[in-house]
Amino acid sequence: MKFQPKAGKGAVVIELIEGSVVHFDGKTLSVPCGEKKEVNRRKFVTIMRKVVAVAKQYKLKSIALDYSDLKALAPKDMGDYEVGRIAGTAFVMANYEHNTYKTKPKEGWSMVDTFAITDAPQEAKEGFADGHVIATEINRARELSNTPAGDMTPKSLLAAAKRAMVGTKAKVTSLNMKQMEKLGMGGVVGVGKGAEDKPEFIIVEYWGADSPRTVLKKGAKELSFKNPPVVLVGKGVTFDTGGMNIKTGDHMYEMHMDMSGGSAVIHAVALAARLGIKTNVVGLIPAVENTTGPQSMRPGDILKSLSGKTIEILNTDAEGRVILADAITYAKRYNPAIVADAATLTGAALTAFGEWANAFMTSDSKMIMDFMDLAEESGDYMWPMPLWKEYDYIVKGVFGDVPNIPATGNSRYAGVIGGGKFLEVFAKELDCPWIHIDIAPKMTAAPGEHLAKGAAGSPIRFFLALIEKYAHSG
Ligand code: BES
Ligand code: ZN
Ligand code: MN
Repeated sequence: MKFQPKAGKGAVVIELIEGSVVHFDGKTLSVPCGEKKEVNRRKFVTIMRKVVAVAKQYKLKSIALDYSDLKALAPKDMGDYEVGRIAGTAFVMANYEHNTYKTKPKEGWSMVDTFAITDAPQEAKEGFADGHVIATEINRARELSNTPAGDMTPKSLLAAAKRAMVGTKAKVTSLNMKQMEKLGMGGVVGVGKGAEDKPEFIIVEYWGADSPRTVLKKGAKELSFKNPPVVLVGKGVTFDTGGMNIKTGDHMYEMHMDMSGGSAVIHAVALAARLGIKTNVVGLIPAVENTTGPQSMRPGDILKSLSGKTIEILNTDAEGRVILADAITYAKRYNPAIVADAATLTGAALTAFGEWANAFMTSDSKMIMDFMDLAEESGDYMWPMPLWKEYDYIVKGVFGDVPNIPATGNSRYAGVIGGGKFLEVFAKELDCPWIHIDIAPKMTAAPGEHLAKGAAGSPIRFFLALIEKYAHSG
């Protein structure tokens, strides 16, 4: 989709009206917004997406909307830049569809090619341009997540990360299975070695503020910065069969999207680089396929993690936390300002929240309100869960240090928190705040969100908000 300042010939004019009935007379498309005075931030996003979704239904290629109509609808406290950025993001996100594997119809895909926003002030124009960059990156992440696992192996995800950084200052490196074995990353290796396509540990570095110096700390190499980086960690399970504890029924459906945390991290770093944000950002993505095979881990296996702690595999389907443990330990060498991980970790999060909010847990309860505000403002909605001491039983091992599902108590209880408590064991070694986001709820778009079926690209907008926060405070 291209944004233009003037409507071309034949562009259909969009009119935002009260009520609930769509009307189209060939020249004007009337998009209903409900009660205009009730439009808050959330609703504004939904209506902006609806504009494009309805235009697509009517197979319109070229549409136009006057900026003053937009501004009149937006919440009163929203400035022109923000109106532009939010609307621009919404338009481009709503235009995306995963049709890579479909034969193109004779009349072409029903997508909006040009969108004229007329009479926009300069600040709004800048907002639209940034919104376009943001949503383009989100849509690229959605495309990676939507790609079937047969075409999205750990190596393909690495290649995709490299492609994502083309034209930016960000650099991609990786560790293959041999290198991970040598380093002692028994978690990633243990989960990934059973597949024909071997694991990769993807590292994306964007030095937007200053370049690091290598220092020796207790004899080991570490990086030192004037501006400590925001380290993002993303679960990159390219397919989750469950492993030896194989998933049954329809539980395996959509598990090609189990790398959505990883694709979000890749494109959040690319986004920071493209927007030229003056801060340092690192993305760490352990990429594995969790499947069955002669080399696969079994229930009862004990893996030695990078932290030195042993992980007792009680269920091979709780694989995400095992690979993330190594990535969180790896994050330590960057001396980060904050570590944030995103993972499609538990079906329990989906059970708790439906498709409407991600679950988050943090080591620093004083930051909960800040995180909630960032989530709300960014549009990547999420809600907190506790990591209280009372839940410590969940991570008490019997034959190893930490079990990957509770060894005692009812393992069906507190499923979301169980994932968080496991990661907390490894995050405790960090000298900075840590936030874990269980994005299983928003792995796919919710009905009514006006986004195409499939991956939703969460939590890239939250990551951006976090990166911007640290850029301003750093
Ligand atoms: N990738 C799944 C979680 C998931 C389920 C994400 C549905 C999105 C939609 C994860 O690896 C998993 O299998 N979790 C188990 C954990 C259990 C074994 C403790 C689950 O949710 O059942
Ligand atoms: Zn999984
Ligand atoms: Mn699993």
